[in-house]
Amino acid sequence: MSAPELDSLRAELLAAIAGACDLGALEDVRVGALGKKGRVSALMQRLGSMPPEERRDFGQAVNALKTAVAEALEVKQQELASAATAERLADETADVTLPVREGPLAEGRIHPVSQVTDEITEIFADMGFSIAEGPDIETDFNNFTALNIPPEHPARQDHDTFYFAEKPDGTRPLLRTHTSPVQIRTMLKEKPPLRIIAPGRVYRCDSDQTHTPMFHQIEGLVIDEDTHLGHLKWVLQEFCRAFFEVPEVKMRFRASHFPFTEPSMEVDIGYAKVGDEIRIGEGDRWLEILGCGMVHPNVLKAVQLDPKKYQGFAFGLGIDRIAMLKYGMPDLRAFFSGDLRWLKHYGFSPLAVPTLAAGLSR
Ligand code: PHE
Repeated sequence: MSAPELDSLRAELLAAIAGACDLGALEDVRVGALGKKGRVSALMQRLGSMPPEERRDFGQAVNALKTAVAEALEVKQQELASAATAERLADETADVTLPVREGPLAEGRIHPVSQVTDEITEIFADMGFSIAEGPDIETDFNNFTALNIPPEHPARQDHDTFYFAEKPDGTRPLLRTHTSPVQIRTMLKEKPPLRIIAPGRVYRCDSDQTHTPMFHQIEGLVIDEDTHLGHLKWVLQEFCRAFFEVPEVKMRFRASHFPFTEPSMEVDIGYAKVGDEIRIGEGDRWLEILGCGMVHPNVLKAVQLDPKKYQGFAFGLGIDRIAMLKYGMPDLRAFFSGDLRWLKHYGFSPLAVPTLAAGLSR
């Protein structure tokens, strides 16, 4: 290759470098010139087969070409890289004066039923109760028979039970109609003294403005050797005061009947209606919130406890009901319709965990 040819190759390569529009195109030029099979590299390989007198001059010329191309590549590479950075910077501006977009923690809401369940749990935990659980699908024995509701007992009709298909052994599982079967599970599993609450879902085939086929209850059970009605009354009074966050709650214990307690009572709390607002602790209106009583001897016998030695009390509280009361939510069905607007309005911040020390509902 003659000197003019070398010059024109040099001009061609430098022009290609200058014309490369991005880092990818520049790399193609580099490979085409200086790569293993590149045109400059091919000239270097030719050196070996040249007569010594030509080799010196040609070698120097090719080396100079190689250096010039490498330098031009280097300069262009830096130029393109900083242009790419400048372009990204211009593209990705962040306006730090914009308001922060809210993340899931700020936007998400805790459902009032979950909130109220936590509030109730917190109060009873403070009184030394522990939490028990049972499944939604129950046996007939736990939901009825062991609770002194034998087959053919009229109370079974009151419960509007959802039954499953009969199993080969003749038993029929059901959706529990109350949380009371957790009493049975607890007494079969643990020895007294017992002090538990059991929150959960319950099901009844019933639906109108104040009833939904699924709702929530919280069961309480205390079994010991000298537990009496006075304890029950005190526990419920303390609970209502703490839950409604007022110094005094008007309560009415009304004689009632449940097969699994004797005596049995229903508890109403007094409230006033001022305009649309409900005020607990004043006024002369009454609202029923729970059923309770002393555990029936037949229930104790069903779980092999001696009624002469052990007594206790139980109560069952409607969670949805007292949530409506406390937070002034008028329609029970809205609880379960999954309407985001409702949840945004009545829901609770996930970071405001209810505690007795900091306040249950902030
Ligand atoms: N299980 C009863 C109900 O669902 C409530 C209750 C529980 C009553 C415990 C007395 C004792 O209506």
